[in-house]
Amino acid sequence: MKKEDNSNQFSRRSFLKGVGITTAGAAVLKGEALAKQLEAAGFLQPNNIISADGVTLSLSVNGRSHKLFVEPRTTLAEALRINLDMTGTKIGCDRGACSACTVLLNGKSVNSCMTLALDAVDLPIETIEGLANGDNLHPLQKSFIEHDAYQCGFCTSGMIISCKALLDENSNPSELEIREAIAGNMCRCGAHLHIVEAVKAVSNS
Ligand code: FES
Ligand code: FES
Repeated sequence: MKKEDNSNQFSRRSFLKGVGITTAGAAVLKGEALAKQLEAAGFLQPNNIISADGVTLSLSVNGRSHKLFVEPRTTLAEALRINLDMTGTKIGCDRGACSACTVLLNGKSVNSCMTLALDAVDLPIETIEGLANGDNLHPLQKSFIEHDAYQCGFCTSGMIISCKALLDENSNPSELEIREAIAGNMCRCGAHLHIVEAVKAVSNS
């Protein structure tokens, strides 16, 4: 499982713990009562508007701000794919085991299936859709193509985002560092060796 820096964010567990309810309890806690619990837990941002059916929030994705109305339990992956129709981010396991759903949140790679959309309010989010500049692919995207670093492609967007997170912090990673960066990204097609070569080709080594 990918290690995530969620120190400033609320996890599903901390959310439920913060509001002092169980998952079953969350299902019946609605409207004003839910808003009060969320506020008490420091969970609501000033601009969030909550009703019996959900919460209005804004997400900044690839430099564009989007206003959404979602249930508080909505994950970032669901918000991207269902609400914003940005299906480049994939959902494989939906439980933090495969990293197909990796996006950059405030510059750090996170599993978006394990991140509440509410946790991402007003933080910069980068998805695979934001890497290319028009028809000009990002160097990593080009290198993946040139090195045949995918087969079915289901893991590819998550892989590329994980590799981008690495290169953003370290433009000259060792092979071990590349392998560690994608250690949490599952590829059932076994493209890992080609992926490592693709990343090496765009590093400054
Ligand atoms: S879909 Fe998020 S970790 Fe697998
Ligand atoms: S290319 Fe198929 S899962 Fe990675």
